[in-house]
Amino acid sequence: MNTVIDAMLKRRSIKAYTDEQVTDEQLKQIIDCGLYAPNGMGAQAPVFVAVRDKQTRDELSRLNARVMGADSDPFYGAPCVVCVLADAQRSTAVEDASLSLGNMCLAAHSLGLGSCWIHRCKQVFESDEGKALLEKWGVKGDLIGVGFCIIGHADQQKDAAPRKDNRVYYVD
Ligand SMILES: Cc1cc2nc3c(=O)[nH]c(=O)nc-3n(C[C@H](O)[C@H](O)[C@H](O)COP(=O)(O)O)c2cc1C
Repeated sequence: MNTVIDAMLKRRSIKAYTDEQVTDEQLKQIIDCGLYAPNGMGAQAPVFVAVRDKQTRDELSRLNARVMGADSDPFYGAPCVVCVLADAQRSTAVEDASLSLGNMCLAAHSLGLGSCWIHRCKQVFESDEGKALLEKWGVKGDLIGVGFCIIGHADQQKDAAPRKDNRVYYVD
């Protein structure tokens, strides 16, 4: 089968990870796929913050869990988290960043890695602690957090749920 189509059909959201870290080369390739996603007016507005430092990763996990009022790890033990943010002033901010996140999940799968989109990025980077992290990282601008792409080595196998019927209409 065409390898791109194969990846689109077989990629799954992985929710259990080993401790093994993602390599520099893997991370670069995944982020490149995010950078090359289609984006409104070619503005290339999404911004990516790749986190492998364990202390920072754990802090992001804590802030994310806090949004839910939980103290679990919403990143399922994944050792790498890419925060995807976009220029809040652009009308396609969320769409642009979402396509980047989708590309990155597919790229991770194609490299034999697991990944998952994790929500609540907006609230994390609206919080004082989230804003302080952006400042510490030197990330500037009026940015909105769109999603976290967690990446790592899968510690589970998953099959796709059956697709629901009656969602496609053909007009020939
Ligand atoms: C916008 C969006 C937000 C998501 N947020 C979360 C999340 O916060 N936590 C989580 O475990 N999975 C999250 N997911 C992953 C979904 O649970 C997953 O894509 C869905 O169950 C379908 O599974 P599949 O990707 O393996 O086909 C999110 C997915 C999307 C597209």
